[in-house]
Amino acid sequence: MKQGIFTVAENTLLTASVWRMRLVGDTSAITAPGQFVNIRLPGRYLRRPISVCDREGETLTIIYKVVGRGTDVMSRLQPGAQLDLLTGLGNGYDLSPAGDRPLLLGGGVGVPPLWLLAKELIAAGKQVTAVLGFNRADEVFYAEEFAALGARVIVATADGSAGVKGFVTDALDGLDYSYFYTCGPEPMLKAVYRATTTGGQFSFEERMGCGFGACMGCTCQTIAGPKRLCRDGPVLRKEEIIWN
Ligand SMILES: Cc1cc2nc3c(=O)[nH]c(=O)nc-3n(C[C@H](O)[C@H](O)[C@H](O)COP(=O)(O)OP(=O)(O)OC[C@H]3O[C@@H](n4cnc5c(N)ncnc54)[C@H](O)[C@@H]3O)c2cc1C
Ligand code: FES
Repeated sequence: MKQGIFTVAENTLLTASVWRMRLVGDTSAITAPGQFVNIRLPGRYLRRPISVCDREGETLTIIYKVVGRGTDVMSRLQPGAQLDLLTGLGNGYDLSPAGDRPLLLGGGVGVPPLWLLAKELIAAGKQVTAVLGFNRADEVFYAEEFAALGARVIVATADGSAGVKGFVTDALDGLDYSYFYTCGPEPMLKAVYRATTTGGQFSFEERMGCGFGACMGCTCQTIAGPKRLCRDGPVLRKEEIIWN
């Protein structure tokens, strides 16, 4: 883990409530897709955890949805603003069990961490299929960016206004995959757990306190005993998960 000051280089609205922010600073502690950064915001006591969407040299990309005061503050930041970040947090996804045809399943703001994962899997010669789930067509983001990487992209929307009608699990019929990686809201993760037929890894974007293992506020039970999702996660393997 590293603490550092990052400068906002870009803050762009992608959909009605989802923003992409590019920040420049010391990204050297970020070692795996699925890790997150924890952002100190003016007037907020707790830092806000956001997944790494991309890391290219000194540029860090995050994608966030405005849901409350902290993310609202973020959306108002202009290029040149400075933020205090903890970087290199969490275990991230393990690429080694991916096989030749990994399947990525993302829901809403669970999509961003899968982008760096797709980039690294494709660079390693894998045939990636990405199923991206949203509520409506106007909430879809990053489908073209996944396709530009070389992934096969399937969009699912709950109301059927774009792509497959339904949830990401409704797009699984007939898909041939060697392993899966997923991130999204917990009901989606539970559905993915039930619908998938191979091993896989789940990233949990639960509420957190300190974000680096000190407060025990994110402890959950697993087959291997209690784990802190911020430090031992946020990625857990399918076989170790115990659902509440
Ligand atoms: C490891 C990790 C990675 C994350 N990655 C991303 C990401 O890439 N993009 C993104 O948009 N969000 C991500 N989140 C969620 C993000 O941290 C929260 O949305 C953010 O902290 C909310 O801050 P706020 O001050 O705007 O909202 P608050 O004022 O704190 O809360 C507003 C509302 O949102 C709910 N809420 C807050 N945090 C969460 C949460 N973690 N899960 C579910 N509901 C929550 C609250 O219950 C409340 O109803 C991630 C969370 C974790 C733990
Ligand atoms: S959030 Fe403090 S230990 Fe995980």
